Amino acid sequence: MRTHRIAAIPGDGIGTEVVAAGIEVLQELARVDGTFELAFEHLPWGSRYYRERGTYIPEGGLERLRAFDAIYFGAVGSLDVPDHVSLWGLRLPICQGFDQYANVRPARVLPGLKSPLVNGGDIDWVIIRENTEGEYSGSGGRVHRGLPDEVATETSVFTRRGAERIHRFAFELASRRPAKHLTLVTKSNAQRHGMVLWDEVFFAVANDYPDVRWDRELVDAVTTRMVLKPKSLDVLVASNLHADILSDLAAALAGSLGVAPTANLNPERAFPSMFEPIHGSAFDIVGKGIANPIGTFWSGAMMLEHLGESAAAARLLAAIERTTASADMTPDLGGKGTTASVTRAVCDALRSA
Ligand code: NAI
Ligand code: MG
Repeated sequence: MRTHRIAAIPGDGIGTEVVAAGIEVLQELARVDGTFELAFEHLPWGSRYYRERGTYIPEGGLERLRAFDAIYFGAVGSLDVPDHVSLWGLRLPICQGFDQYANVRPARVLPGLKSPLVNGGDIDWVIIRENTEGEYSGSGGRVHRGLPDEVATETSVFTRRGAERIHRFAFELASRRPAKHLTLVTKSNAQRHGMVLWDEVFFAVANDYPDVRWDRELVDAVTTRMVLKPKSLDVLVASNLHADILSDLAAALAGSLGVAPTANLNPERAFPSMFEPIHGSAFDIVGKGIANPIGTFWSGAMMLEHLGESAAAARLLAAIERTTASADMTPDLGGKGTTASVTRAVCDALRSA
């Protein structure tokens, strides 16, 4: 029997609710599949842990995490810790430390769900986000703190190596999809150094993929294209900040932030990759039992795919789709369902498939 060792980091807020639901569904899937098992280890790293110990990741934590085959993550963010402290305390050290440079974010309107767009059924996108540098490199500083002349800089970092590997990843992914189309998202008209390098490297990489059609769009213009001509887009590659924003828009256009999954991949597999819903801790609904777990389930399917369990991943996706098509969904999708009822429905669908 194949065993996959997975670190579960539920984190904060509804992260703990949806990851518990995700583990329940994944264990049910492993049971009905019968050819592999999932050994989850729970790591309590989050804002409570931080308040008690002054750190999100304990000494030696990343080394320990490195031994796992994958990481199943919830969310991090708490009302009593500044967001930049929590994000840089837990999620970003893992993405950067494990060189998870390819952040893959599919967006599609699942059966039974409603897009706010009239032509929302046309949405079938994968947004590829550069995940280790760009605007979120962490480079910058503040001087003259608190004084009237205070200055803060936030420097975007674009490297040839970083741009090349993410563009290549995007072309590879695009070449495996039926539409074989890739859109370069940029802002090289206004940002004339880093973004120009970003574009130039893309054009060079494109030469290696003659079977992929591509175009280039400024990030502001691409938002209108997402809304007005969703069918004209297939795979999009964008910088860390741009893709962060575009993928929230994509999730809303696909029905809800609660259904959107993401994979933070280290494609070379030198380090474990991390799978999580794209949403955050959702303070407004925490503890109510109504967090939509679909994005976490879908992220679980992406994790299985990465672990080589393609059949199980497809089976889970099919069960998710049968559930969204027929079960009462959570209130973010206009239903009266709960995290528990949706989880039960997916487990039932897995058993009856
Ligand atoms: P958020 O994603 O937590 O919530 C935005 C809105 O979407 C809220 O109204 C929330 O109720 C709703 N929502 C999100 N997920 C849902 C789900 N599964 N089911 C139903 N409704 C859902 O984003 P927000 O409010 O900007 O951030 C809250 C905290 O989360 C902050 O501390 C932020 O830094 C953190 N955050 C963490 C992320 C991560 O760990 N990857 C990503 C985004 C935010
Ligand atoms: Mg975001």
